[in-house]
This record gives sequence, C-alpha cells and structure tokens, in this order.
Amino acid sequence: MAFNRPKISVFGAGYVGSTVAQRCADRELGDILLIDIVPDMPKGKALDMFESGPVERFDARIEGSNNPDDVKDSDIVVITSGIPRKPGMSRDDLLKTNAGIVHSVVDKIKQHAPKAIIITVTNPLDVMTFVAHQRSGFPKNRVIGMAGVLDSARMASFVAMELNVSVKDISPMVLGGHGDTMVPLPRYTTVSGIPITDLLPADKIDAINKRTQTGGAEIVNLLKTGSAYYAPGSSVVAMVESIVRDQRRVLPCCVLLEGEYGLKGSWQGVPCVLGKNGVEKILELKLNDAEKALLEASNQHVAKAITECKQLLGL
Ligand code: NAI
Ligand code: 2OP
Repeated sequence: MAFNRPKISVFGAGYVGSTVAQRCADRELGDILLIDIVPDMPKGKALDMFESGPVERFDARIEGSNNPDDVKDSDIVVITSGIPRKPGMSRDDLLKTNAGIVHSVVDKIKQHAPKAIIITVTNPLDVMTFVAHQRSGFPKNRVIGMAGVLDSARMASFVAMELNVSVKDISPMVLGGHGDTMVPLPRYTTVSGIPITDLLPADKIDAINKRTQTGGAEIVNLLKTGSAYYAPGSSVVAMVESIVRDQRRVLPCCVLLEGEYGLKGSWQGVPCVLGKNGVEKILELKLNDAEKALLEASNQHVAKAITECKQLLGL
C-alpha cells in the first residue's frame, strides 16, 4: 500500500503495540504498520483493526508485516518489541533479552528510516532508550523514551480517586527513571492549579507516591501474565500525536540530559516540549534539596543499569 499520511510503524504487535496501533488509527494520526516476528499475527491484527474503520469511521491504513525492512520511510517508529515482566521480575531482569531485540530493530530503522523519530517503550525503559540512541546514532531529540506520561497518568488517577474529583483537572508531575526510584512531585502536581500539598495530608500523599512508584507491578500482579497496556498505549499515543500534529505539548519523557538538572550523560524522565522535531525543548523545574536527592538516587539506579548493559553488550 502507498503511505501518503505520516507513517507510524510499531515494532511488536503484542499488547502494547496493538493498543498503540488501534488508538493511533482511532485518532487518525497517520497510516500504521505493525511489525512482529510471530508469523502472520501482525497481518491478522492489522486487518482486523482496519476492518473496524468503517464502524469507527476513521481514515487510516493499517498493515501488518513480518519483514522489518518494511519500516522503510517511517516518520515515527515505536519500539515495543521485547518480553514483558512476569510476577516477581524487575524491569532490569528483562535487560539482556530486550537489548538484543532493540539492537536488531534499531539497525533496521537506521538502515531504512534514517529520519524517523524513535519512541522506545520496551523495558527496562531508560536503558533501552540509551541502547536505541547509542545504536542508531540519531540526534538526541529523535530518540525518546515513554514512561513519564504513564507514571504521571497513574499518579493523576490515584489523586482523582483520593479527592473524588475529575481526572481531567489533575496536572501530575513525575520525574526520573521508570522504576521504583521514579520521583513523583506532589509540589508540582496540581488540581486546577492547586498543589496537592494544599489539598491532602502528608500520609495520603506518601501513599499516592508509593502506589505510583509501584503502579506497574500492581498491574502485573493482577494480570498474572504480562503487564499493563491500556494506559501505556494511551501514553505512547499522546506522544505520537504531539509530534505528528506539532502540538508542542509538555510531556514527561525519558531523554538524554546534558547538564539539565545538574546531570550529564544521564537518561532520565523530565518534562519536554514535543513537536514535529521530537524533543523541541527540555524544561527545568526548580527542585528543593529533598527532590534533588530523589532525582539523583533515580539517576544512580539508571546509570548502574546502563553500565551493566554496556558490559553485557561489550560497549
Ligand atoms: P507482548 O509480549 O505482548 O508484545 C511484545 C511483542 O514483541 C511480541 O508479540 C513479540 O513477538 C514481539 N517481538 C519480539 N521480538 C521482536 C522483534 N525482533 N521484532 C518485532 N517484534 C518482536 O508485550 P507487551 O505487553 O506489548 O510489552 C512490550 C514491552 O513494553 C515489554 O518490554 C514491556 O515491559 C514494555 N512496557 C513498557 C512500558 C513503559 O512504560 N515503558 C509500559 C508497558 C510495557
Ligand atoms: C509498567 O509500568 C510494565 O513498565 C510497565 O506498567
């Protein structure tokens, strides 16, 4: 098929990848290609989704493929290929297998879609975003990790539950790596402009922070097999939409920091302006000493995992 709208390719047609594809189609963000190694499966899912178009009334072509070369000329490539967590596994346990998968996928992107913007999803997220950047050699504005939108959405959900207010009025903020050391920021999390520190007692805020940090594991433990995909899918699509429509939304993304927040050569989640060039700008929050210490701890955790990954890959 001839792609004449933005071409959005998604590696991995599993739970997250297919949710991303479906929501991109629903929003008419572009034409979509699902790529997976399981024979015929991405073609089946793509055809099924395309056949929902006459009912949902969206204009988007959706195709599936087992050939990674079909990523050719993509504008955006979302990487979800990899294995997800099982109960008891940490995201870092996934490192070795998923680094190999991300390598092979990024080689194809580099070869066939050298101008694409890459959004990584595969875990461990911060390390895989480093791997994608290192392997592709793409400029840092075109390699972006999805985690902060999801972690913030979880925080917003828990605040809405606690205050019994609409999720629409909550503006959450979570910095740091995608793991238990992520940094929810209650001072910067507001309900129609009111910081939650003015609305909730400290013990309730602590509980929200903790539930946010372990939000992924909460779903893993409930599902028993696999991990979350509805909220992750929505989170990726918010990023894709901001890029293809040049919305310049401010969304927390995992990016390479080169001095921002006092961190150099670090992959951390921070608020970014997302537009047609990918990361248009990194915004710096004024953190107090306690918040800075939490971000530093998160950075150390990610840096250690990246060092292990480098050793594993002989970098
Ligand atoms: P899944 O198992 O449903 O899907 C992964 C798919 O990748 C499978 O269909 C598999 O066949 C495919 N795959 C494996 N190697 C491939 C290759 N070389 N090329 C193309 N496809 C390949 O897993 P799910 O639930 O979709 O999760 C995907 C990844 O996303 C996991 O690593 C998970 O931990 C991560 N994740 C990250 C989140 C985040 O916030 N960053 C949130 C949710 C999931
Ligand atoms: C999550 O946070 C598994 O990282 C994934 O749900």
